[in-house]
Amino acid sequence: MKIMVVGGGGREHAIVKKIKENKAVTEIFALPGNGGIAMDATCVNIGAKDIDGIVKFAVENKIDYAIVAPDDPLVLGAVDALEEKGIPCFGPRANAAIIEGSKVFSKNLMKKYNIPTAEYEVFTDMDAALKYLESAPIPTVIKADGLALGKGVIIAQTREEAKDAVRSMMQDKVFGKSGDQIVIEEFLTGPEVSVLAFTDGKSIVPMVSSMDHKRAGDNDTGLNTGGMGTIAPNPYYTDPIAWVCTEQIFIPTVQAMNKEGRTFKGCLYFGLMLTEKGPKVIEYNCRFGDPETQVVLPLLETDLLTVMQAVTEERLGDIEVKFSDGSACCVIMASGGYPSSYQKGFEISIPENIADSVYVAGAEIKDGKMVTSGGRVLGVTATANSLEDAITEAYKKVEKISFEGAFYRHDIGARALAAKKEI
Ligand code: AMP
Ligand code: GLY
Repeated sequence: MKIMVVGGGGREHAIVKKIKENKAVTEIFALPGNGGIAMDATCVNIGAKDIDGIVKFAVENKIDYAIVAPDDPLVLGAVDALEEKGIPCFGPRANAAIIEGSKVFSKNLMKKYNIPTAEYEVFTDMDAALKYLESAPIPTVIKADGLALGKGVIIAQTREEAKDAVRSMMQDKVFGKSGDQIVIEEFLTGPEVSVLAFTDGKSIVPMVSSMDHKRAGDNDTGLNTGGMGTIAPNPYYTDPIAWVCTEQIFIPTVQAMNKEGRTFKGCLYFGLMLTEKGPKVIEYNCRFGDPETQVVLPLLETDLLTVMQAVTEERLGDIEVKFSDGSACCVIMASGGYPSSYQKGFEISIPENIADSVYVAGAEIKDGKMVTSGGRVLGVTATANSLEDAITEAYKKVEKISFEGAFYRHDIGARALAAKKEI
């Protein structure tokens, strides 16, 4: 089988490596892929947002199955366009990807179907938003409606900060049209849990839970990033909490999307906060998370392509999806300076014996050598029977990889280990 994976980050590298395990797979194309993915797939220089280019490539190369991983092409309708040409796909159609593409849509969906989430107001008029902020509880959370490269959420600690965020989104249009509408919502507190789930619109199969580490520095200091590391499973996500989430959030979301005529098929990502009043949805994503995928897929024991095809063919309920009982830890190695400005072009050295567990995000091949080309350069994952061992092993591997200016957090999983002792 010829497989096409759309995207070019660490998540896509993890998907490619897992798909490769299926013996029926003869060739994998990554569009556009990256310098690391090139070790495991044929990279094709077509951007993930170039829907026409993606469809043309898939048709010309007789692709048997397509996996669309990033949010942008899903929201732009890549799956709809590929399906029109008869190419089976993993990923939601555009009318379901809106669950991530529009925060206003997702908040209204949750309100309509009583799915627990933060209280909120929607604004299309800047003056009304600014007036509301005169008396809104502080801290408050300002969210641009549309996709904003993961930067569209501002947690404002003061009224002035909140107003500045509103002005930058609605007046200065820092996120373009994504800021035409905004959501202002209640600030929630509690441990965060990411749960990715396979769903075909009929059944939903949650994968092993995980915990992201978004701040750049140790002990959750410094700027927000795309994610500096992950562990799985997340110790805060106990069996009783999982049961509540399934009953109050996962199944109701799948049913709500069906009732709206927007059946979701693919990977639905639940960003949850475990508040004192129970689990609440912080955000939905219409895709696998990055870097959650880099710890979740290594723990998947069932063949990934088989699960994906069952989703496409709406027979997920007929198969068993198994995860290992072990734990995983992924440490991201980034370019010095990230998430602010950083230099590129430094040679990356990865010993052969650990290459299997390295997921490359920002690298390219120059003069036959792999060099850095992005902020988050790569993730290194280890799996083990215990979380302690997974963390130790991941850091041992990190020490064997080098590139100039490389930095990483030293405490990935520390909070989870502490939580394990409390719970
Ligand atoms: P993202 O949408 O991935 O950019 O991340 C937004 C992050 O902001 C989440 O992971 C939370 O940590 C935080 N966040 C979003 N909404 C809220 C909220 N209502 N209360 C508290 N924190 C929030
Ligand atoms: N790790 C968060 C995300 O993929 O959006």
